Amino acid sequence: MREVKVLGLLGTGVIGGGWAARALHLGIDVLAMDTRPEMEAWIRGAVENARGALSRLTLAPLPPEGRLSFTTDLEAMARAADFIQENIPEQLELKQRILAQASRAAPADVVIASSTSGLLPTDLQRQMTAPERLLVGHPFNPVYLLPLVELVGGQRTSPAALDAAERFYREIGMHPLRVRREIPGHLTDRLQEALWREILHLVNDGVASTGELDDAIIYGPGLRWAGMGTNLIYHLAGGETGMRHMLRQFGPCLKWPWTRLEAPELTDTLIDRMVEGTQAQAKGRSIRELERLRDEYLLAIQQVLKQFDLGAGATLRGLEERLYERSGRNASAGVDAALAAGTAAPARMLDTYVRPEWIDYNGHMTDSRYLQVFGDATDALLRWAGVDDAYRKTGRAVYTLESHVTHIAEAKALEPLYVTTQMLELDAKRLRLRHCLYRRRDETLIATARQLYVHVDTRARRAAPFEPQVHARLERLALAHAALPQS
Ligand SMILES: NC(=O)c1ccc[n+]([C@@H]2O[C@H](COP(=O)([O-])OP(=O)(O)OC[C@H]3O[C@@H](n4cnc5c(N)ncnc54)[C@H](O)[C@@H]3O)[C@@H](O)[C@H]2O)c1
Repeated sequence: MREVKVLGLLGTGVIGGGWAARALHLGIDVLAMDTRPEMEAWIRGAVENARGALSRLTLAPLPPEGRLSFTTDLEAMARAADFIQENIPEQLELKQRILAQASRAAPADVVIASSTSGLLPTDLQRQMTAPERLLVGHPFNPVYLLPLVELVGGQRTSPAALDAAERFYREIGMHPLRVRREIPGHLTDRLQEALWREILHLVNDGVASTGELDDAIIYGPGLRWAGMGTNLIYHLAGGETGMRHMLRQFGPCLKWPWTRLEAPELTDTLIDRMVEGTQAQAKGRSIRELERLRDEYLLAIQQVLKQFDLGAGATLRGLEERLYERSGRNASAGVDAALAAGTAAPARMLDTYVRPEWIDYNGHMTDSRYLQVFGDATDALLRWAGVDDAYRKTGRAVYTLESHVTHIAEAKALEPLYVTTQMLELDAKRLRLRHCLYRRRDETLIATARQLYVHVDTRARRAAPFEPQVHARLERLALAHAALPQS
């Protein structure tokens, strides 16, 4: 299975648009295909709408944004894509026909994943050429912010295709959940439907309004679910003996039973109650406004969960670690090569560009982003020396003590930039660096920074010497830079 540089999208509605925004943000080119030419404007709008939220997902250094292109030619898309994600309407025969057509044009090592909410992969792959690369990759709306993707193989799906899909989805910041056996509705929609069925019954029986039922979730269980799900939370509800006690105490209720298995009939009265109820809850806010509000709190929740390394927050942390690692890897190769060749020049530690959201009201890169860019260059240098996530988990880290930034010229949106870094001073616990930020277009120096860092024992909360192997690497660089001018 191949490395994914171009993601092909088959169908560019709500879900196709979400895949596009996520992939482009993480540096993957997207070739979107839809039968309706007007969907080009739609998908470009969807990507633009997602940009605000996505830009606040992480401060980690991102690769250059991917390029979006659009076609109505299915075969052209299938021939050019490295991975195809199908997002056409949920109709088995339509999906079977279109997937078969795509599979005849796509090389056999291109994984084809379906976003289907509930169809079985064995049914989807029936008419395909090389059916072993078909699997379900079921995402959740908004795809650009929610990391979950359910991975389901059919009878003919190869483990290699599932592995390749898992790698790709992780690369774009998702949490692939392997479903052991294909069942209609996979896992999550089975759970969601059970809850929704009860909601429909309770509204139908006149027991509660849609708003009251949403309150029943958002003030209680919903807050617990994001971090621990249902089962682990019930384990806690059983007191010291956990789940065993919980089942002994509440298990018998399951026989009464409180809930119903059959959904109620969707009568006009029930449909009206559901529609009027949710319209009242919306309080005049448009779908767009509500989407923005949803995106804002989904972002905030993930940032909070990140601090606890829980659920979607742990996924975000994993993505950030990979982004820092990727950015550090190129820099490290450059430093090693320069040291081996005995070249004494400041090391090129970061290549980046001015992301549109970094611009202030003057149309230039705003002040705080300079510190972010210099911080990323320091991070790359420290990673080269061995200060990475594993090192930090042992209770040691490097903190900033002082930053002095000098602005010389300006940078506009989308300008490619790079940072070179010079070691000015090193002792057992401290490190002083000088960064230079250049505009790649004309090699103009646009800012410099002098920064002082201290190595700390984060548990004792005080300065501590660098570990010997880290210090030895930093010292090699300090020696190589000793002859360079200091300003
Ligand atoms: N909406 C959700 O919340 C959600 C969540 C997860 C998964 N899904 C699944 O994703 C898939 C798409 O759902 P959606 O909500 O994005 O639907 P949608 O109606 O918004 O988009 C479907 C798109 O497919 C296009 N299309 C139709 N026939 C086509 C063809 N032959 N070739 C190319 N394009 C074609 C349509 O023009 C449309 O743009 C479904 O299988 C659905 O079950 C939806």
